[in-house]
Amino acid sequence: MLLEVKDLNVRFATHDGEVKAVNGIDLDVARGETLGIVGESGSGKSQLAFAIMGLLARNGTTTGSVRFDGQEILNAPARTLSKLRADRIAMVFQDPMTSLNPYMRVSDQMAEVLMLHKGMGKAQAVAESVRMLDAVRIPDARGRVRLHPHEFSGGMRQRVMIAMALLCRPDLLIADEPTTALDVTVQAQIMQLLDELQTEFGMAMILITHDLGVVAGSCERVMVMYGGRTMERAPVDPLFAAPSHPYTQGLLAAIPRVDQKGARLSAIPGSPPNMTRPPAGCPFVPRCPYAMDICQDVMPPLVELEPARRRACHAAVERVWAGPPALVETPEPAAAEMQERMAGDLPGNLPDAAVAGAGSAGVTPEGGR
Ligand SMILES: Nc1ncnc2c1ncn2[C@@H]1O[C@H](COP(=O)(O)OP(=O)(O)OP(=O)(O)O)[C@@H](O)[C@H]1O
Ligand code: SF4
Ligand SMILES: [Mg+2]
Repeated sequence: MLLEVKDLNVRFATHDGEVKAVNGIDLDVARGETLGIVGESGSGKSQLAFAIMGLLARNGTTTGSVRFDGQEILNAPARTLSKLRADRIAMVFQDPMTSLNPYMRVSDQMAEVLMLHKGMGKAQAVAESVRMLDAVRIPDARGRVRLHPHEFSGGMRQRVMIAMALLCRPDLLIADEPTTALDVTVQAQIMQLLDELQTEFGMAMILITHDLGVVAGSCERVMVMYGGRTMERAPVDPLFAAPSHPYTQGLLAAIPRVDQKGARLSAIPGSPPNMTRPPAGCPFVPRCPYAMDICQDVMPPLVELEPARRRACHAAVERVWAGPPALVETPEPAAAEMQERMAGDLPGNLPDAAVAGAGSAGVTPEGGR
């Protein structure tokens, strides 16, 4: 296994108390594989990635284990981590300007990386940078390598950042919301580019997004996060055919559908928990149409549903597959609103298909991506 994360926790010290941003996460990524990590804003996706990379803010601390190619790297010395980040693990951020220097020509920024980490001379480093800009399909790479980042359009700038990330040919690329700031057409082009580059370079990828639709065509497996925890972890096809967790159902209901003429349903009603004072039980309880008394007090463990598939939910999976219960005695308005929405035409809201299709059919919602 290329990456193995076990019981990873991230805490931030703040004036309001401790923020429990990531809680007991286990994950693994094999060579060449793509894992999608999906969840709403604040669910802990980026901090999980930063903890793996050793890039947490100063007020952050971690416990648990992160093994990369067999070597423990959590809380490893700064030198070890920066060498690893240069050579073997790279990250693409949502905002390209996080990692591009606006005052330096692209040629200088890219060449500097290769001169520093690969010991190349300037001419060879610039030539290799041009090759990489070509690889991310930037037209006239030889001419454009001399431009400053602000002279590129948003989509082209994102390509430059991907080229920067791939310069040292990493074994693992972590792409954190790589397309969110871009318009829909450019988003699709960048996702296709990442797919192609992954095959070309044979690297593994962790794709982080708040949009479950984005992972449909790109990932083999998906981990759904909420409140810093794993809610469901599954291969892509069964997850889309029959989501086994109420939160995954809610995310799927928010994907635009072709049969609704591109209309995007709004997000799941209600808001994510305050991670300074997370609920004792399941973090999704105020918004969940299936919630029971036990959910308030006891966090459900992540248990195996099928081989390679796990879920953390007290409700029986058959109940979730049957769809949200009738609108009676709903404790929270947010949960009632979600019941109404999900009662409609949720992709996994087909009990027969759900039970029969789990693990096989791969009924991805049309238009998902
Ligand atoms: N330096 C920090 N100090 C305190 N809290 C922090 C810090 N950085 C992040 N957090 C908190 O950690 C939690 C998880 O944040 P994270 O950035 O991982 O969310 P995310 O899932 O990536 O969301 P988004 O989709 O908006 O990027 C949030 O509650 C956030 O406010
Ligand atoms: S049924 Fe309970 S445990 Fe399952 S998601 Fe809803 S609140 Fe959480
Ligand atoms: Mg984030």
